[in-house]
Order: sequence, then C-alpha cells, then structure tokens
Amino acid sequence: MTFSLFGDKFTRHSGITRLMEDLNDGLRTPGAIMLGGGNPAHIPAMDEYFHQLLADMLSSGKLTDALCNYDGPQGKSELLTVLAKMLRDTFGWDIEPQNIALTNGSQSAFFYLFNLFAGRRSDGTTRKVLFPLAPEYLGYADAGLEEELFVSTRPNIELLPAGQFKYHVDFERLQIGADTGMICVSRPTNPTGNVITDDELMRLDELANQHGIPLVIDNAYGVPFPGIIFSEARPLWNPNIVLCMSLSKLGLPGSRCGIIIANEKIVSAISNMNGIISLAPGGVGPAIVCEMIKRRDLLRLSEEVVKPFYRQRVQETIAILRRYLPEERCLIHKPEGAIFLWLWFKDLPVSTELLYQRLKQRGVLMVPGHFFFPGLDKPWPHTQQCMRMNYVPDPEKIEAGVRVLAEEIERAWGEAR
Ligand SMILES: Cc1ncc(COP(=O)(O)O)c(C=O)c1O
Repeated sequence: MTFSLFGDKFTRHSGITRLMEDLNDGLRTPGAIMLGGGNPAHIPAMDEYFHQLLADMLSSGKLTDALCNYDGPQGKSELLTVLAKMLRDTFGWDIEPQNIALTNGSQSAFFYLFNLFAGRRSDGTTRKVLFPLAPEYLGYADAGLEEELFVSTRPNIELLPAGQFKYHVDFERLQIGADTGMICVSRPTNPTGNVITDDELMRLDELANQHGIPLVIDNAYGVPFPGIIFSEARPLWNPNIVLCMSLSKLGLPGSRCGIIIANEKIVSAISNMNGIISLAPGGVGPAIVCEMIKRRDLLRLSEEVVKPFYRQRVQETIAILRRYLPEERCLIHKPEGAIFLWLWFKDLPVSTELLYQRLKQRGVLMVPGHFFFPGLDKPWPHTQQCMRMNYVPDPEKIEAGVRVLAEEIERAWGEAR
C-alpha cells in the first residue's frame, strides 16, 4: 500500500501531533504534570455555568435541535446574526452575518486560509504565508498542502526588568514581496504570551493593504472572548483583515468551533470549503455560544471570570518560577495574554529538545521551543534555548513541575562544567 503525495505529507508525525498525543496521554496518566499542550483550565465557575446552561438547553429542546439537525455550510444562522450584532455593538465594526463563517475549530480555519491564499496559482506563480514574528503557533507549521508554504521573520528582543523580555516585529528584516500571499499573526501569541502592539498591528495592516494581501489575526485568546489578554491592546478589523476566533479557550475545546470574520468574498469561499470538506460545521458549540450571547453572559464571563482566573494564575506561576530559577538561568517573556509562559534558558548547554525528553522521563510535560519557528530560513541558536509551559494546572502541580525543571537545568549546566 502506498500513499499519495498528500498522504505522504499529512501522515508524517508532526510537532502538533506529538503535542496532542502527549496531551491525551498526560491527561489520562495519574501523576503526570501537564505543562505541555494548550488545554484550557477547568475554571469551577465556568464549569458550573456550562452545566446549568446545558441542562436548560436540554430541557428547552435547544440542545437536541443542535444535535439532530445539520446547519448550513456557513454555520448556524442564528449565531451569525447575534454575533454580528454583538461585534457591531461592542467595537462599532461594520459586520453583518455575511461577514462570519464558522469552522470545526479554528485549527481547520487556518488550514483553509493558508491554502486559500498561499501555494501554487493558476498563473504558475507560488505564494507563501508570512509570519512577521517567529516564535509563532506550532499548529500552523504543517498546515500547508504544499511544502515550504511558510516564511517567518526573526524578532527584535527587548530586555526588560525582572528577568523579562519582549519580542517585537523587526520591520527592517520583514520582506513582503510578490510571492507573499498573506500575513498571519497570533495576538496574543501562542507560545509566548506576546501581544504585538497597536502600532505594530497597524503597520502590518498598512503593509498588507499596500500589497493587496489579507492580514490574518489569530484571536484565539483575545477580546472580546475569551479575553485572556492582560495588556491594553485595541482590537482591529476591516475588510482586509481576517479575524479568527474560537470557543476553545473559553473552556469549550471539545465543541470544536472556530469563527472567521472577514469580507464577504472570503466568507463565501470558506462556506464553500466547509460544504465540500465537512458539509457543515458542528452545531452544538454555536448553539451554546448563541445562548450565551442572548443571555448577555459571553462578554461578562470573559471579563469577570476567565480573564481574572488566568491573570492570577500567571502571577502565581511567575512567583513559583522565580523561587526555583534565578534570572541568569531563565528569562521569561512578558506575559501579556494566552495561557502559556515562554522561558528562555539563555546559552543552555543542551537543546530544549533534550531537556523535553529528560523532563518527560520524570513525568513533566512541556513543549520544546524549536517547533515554534515555522518558516525560519536560517539556523538560530535561540530556537533551541526556549521552552513553552502551560500555566493552567493548580499551583502545587506547577511547583512540582518547576522543581524538576530547575533540577534538570542545573544538571545540564553541571554536565557542561
Ligand atoms: C494561537 C492558536 N490558534 C489556534 C488554535 C486552535 O484552536 P481550536 O482549533 O481549538 O479553535 C490554538 C489552539 O491551541 C491556538 O493556540
């Protein structure tokens, strides 16, 4: 039995598959310390809320309706209408239902978008996806139908007090040419928790416009929901921007619901792709979030429950890290959002891939940094010196994991002496 080229490419064991396997095994292995994948927290108040909401929806018949009927290929019409209104009211954006399409998780939205705007064209030319700032989300890395679909640009690094640092887009290095098909940036960024500044975002928007290519903003953690963003950052949308959102980090990753906000041409393209690939996006997540919007709970819970939970957890985690790892051993990217801390072990004598293996043997799961540089063309030692940790588990678990991490860092330095 042999596979097609498509088969060869998509059956490789990719970084994202390893991460999801670790996540699945770890979630089901007693004693494992899961600081790896991106499962959101089970926030008690949210769990309770979903429990009650689902009970109400079951008794009103809304849940059965969602389960027993197909939606259209653009996604549940009722949600498209109430979400468009909510975005108009919240941000003043000129959004109508025809500016929104749903997908089965935002991961599949990126697969659609990358292959819609990059790859081979009918005129024989090839275009690429540009990530203006690497590190960037590892889930993008293997989502191209064609090889070498991505290019990315190394950031400038600003060193900050208290052993922190922040990445910035290096506009001097950024190259946008005739072969650039789209620009894509996650904001807040997975893995770093970076939020590119309003100024950076507006410059990217301007550049995208000048080159007649879309700017895709991955808002999986951003505002108005789930709202896991701690810095002041203005959300941006216009018809040249494709804004991608998700229900996952609100606490509903099993609903597999992604949301694309874009101009009508793009929405219609996504809707047609949905029809071909999955008939229609799943309806349960959209039915839940529709009810949340109608009850005026979506934005309230994001602001009053989800954001404060993560803000407190990230502060606790930094305090724990600093009890075990001094600044000269570990720099921390300024946490501005998302559910991860990005640790930079400057000049570490072993690669973070080896560190990952050693931690895994001791039951601690984190993700080595080199996966997060899709499309970087030249080797850069920095990629081997960083590690992503999820700060979702309880502080006691985090402390146990950080203790092992600090021991392994010392071991690595000890071996180099
Ligand atoms: C930045 C970012 N974008 C997209 C996704 C995909 O999320 P989902 O497919 O669950 O909506 C994730 C998941 O962790 C993410 O971190």
